[in-house]
Amino acid sequence: MSSSVPIAAVGIGAAAVAAYALYKLHERSAASAAPDHSTQPIVSIAPQSIQKLASMSAADMTVKNLPPKDKGFVGVCIAGTGRIAEVHVRAILGNRRARLVHVVDVMGDRAKAFGAKYGCPTFSTDIAQACQDPAVDAVMVCTPTQFHAAVCKVAAEYGKPIFCEKPVCALTDDLIKVYKHAASCDVPLLCGFHRSYDPNFSEMMQIIDDGGLQGVSLIHSTSRDHPLPSFEFLKKGGGELLYDFTVHDFDQLLWLTGDGKVMPSAVFACVSTNLEELRGSGVDDTCVVIVKFENGAIGHIDNSRYAPYGYDARCEVFGRGGSMVLNNPSTSAVVMQAGRDGARGGVVDESFPQRYAQAYANQMDHFLDICMFGNKERVSFRHSLIVNLLADAGVESKKTGQFVDFKKFALPKLKQAGFNW
Ligand SMILES: NC(=O)c1ccc[n+]([C@@H]2O[C@H](COP(=O)([O-])OP(=O)(O)OC[C@H]3O[C@@H](n4cnc5c(N)ncnc54)[C@H](O)[C@@H]3O)[C@@H](O)[C@H]2O)c1
Repeated sequence: MSSSVPIAAVGIGAAAVAAYALYKLHERSAASAAPDHSTQPIVSIAPQSIQKLASMSAADMTVKNLPPKDKGFVGVCIAGTGRIAEVHVRAILGNRRARLVHVVDVMGDRAKAFGAKYGCPTFSTDIAQACQDPAVDAVMVCTPTQFHAAVCKVAAEYGKPIFCEKPVCALTDDLIKVYKHAASCDVPLLCGFHRSYDPNFSEMMQIIDDGGLQGVSLIHSTSRDHPLPSFEFLKKGGGELLYDFTVHDFDQLLWLTGDGKVMPSAVFACVSTNLEELRGSGVDDTCVVIVKFENGAIGHIDNSRYAPYGYDARCEVFGRGGSMVLNNPSTSAVVMQAGRDGARGGVVDESFPQRYAQAYANQMDHFLDICMFGNKERVSFRHSLIVNLLADAGVESKKTGQFVDFKKFALPKLKQAGFNW
């Protein structure tokens, strides 16, 4: 199964090929030879899956195609070996129930190097080839977002449980198709929204559940990235701020308001470009989004692609019973003031791998429970869809400068996916 020769990547349609061509432009190792995608077949869905898909309702979506229980571990294939794969591989290596058994990257030399670094000699450039490897029980999709759909479809066709990084697809119609297709193949699909696995954030959810705040009236969610992603990534591969970054805050708002039990009623987004290097590129780097909920709660998000002082992810929840604040962990809780130099304190985390290391480990453990015991996905299809619809509504608000009536806007897509309001 090992190969140093790039093998044709399957499952990449015309749009994805074009997107990949753009994506390639900003690749870090420009010297690496990328395979020629111009002759790649478009991913196909087996006819019986399409039939099943047409007649499926959301209630049918319990799965699963699972690896044999008696193995005692799950053989994991990582597809895509960039920034987030470096995070997930640590969670795999740190969990006795997981083994890295196959690495896939369209850049063959990158797949090989990643495998060598983490003790997995088996690699390929083709997700279909990887799925034919009997050692592969499950697939973790860590490719850029524009390739998630194609890779997920292939993994589902081969009956492999899927972990897919966020968002499953930026286009909501594609997201619905991918989830329905996975369900039609009896394959679980867990989306990589990781914040609810963070111990501090879990504690906040628990306090709210226990009535500690006597309800939720206001949520303020701040996410500011560090380090600044490359301008090439932001211009060519990073996509829309709301789908690539703000989705984490939407995910967070949904958890804090009961995971979709209380639906959003209105969305307003004020989005802009402040970084000089991005001006005129059409790429946003800053936003404030307001999400009002049907019970009166108001969520307020502020995002920036760049915080010079480190990774900044804070949250305050306010209710009748009080306020609860999640601050950035820091190297020190001590703040020192001396002379006229102002205050000096600890330093916050460098970036998401440090800030959410435990969340990623917990998320992996949950994925293994799904693979081994058929546990229900914590981040459901419905949750993932509502997050995307909030981003869609944000884009609509950006266009019109008005609040978007969320029910009117989102209900048709929810119905299309088989859900009620
Ligand atoms: N949950 C989080 O905290 C978090 C953080 C960062 C990124 N992400 C998500 O992870 C995904 C990947 O982002 P990244 O920053 O790691 O990307 P990246 O650009 O660093 O790495 C992507 C890798 O995928 C490879 N690739 C491209 N197309 C492929 C295909 N069809 N099959 C196999 N390999 C392919 C590329 O060669 C590259 O090595 C994105 O969806 C992003 O939104 C999530």
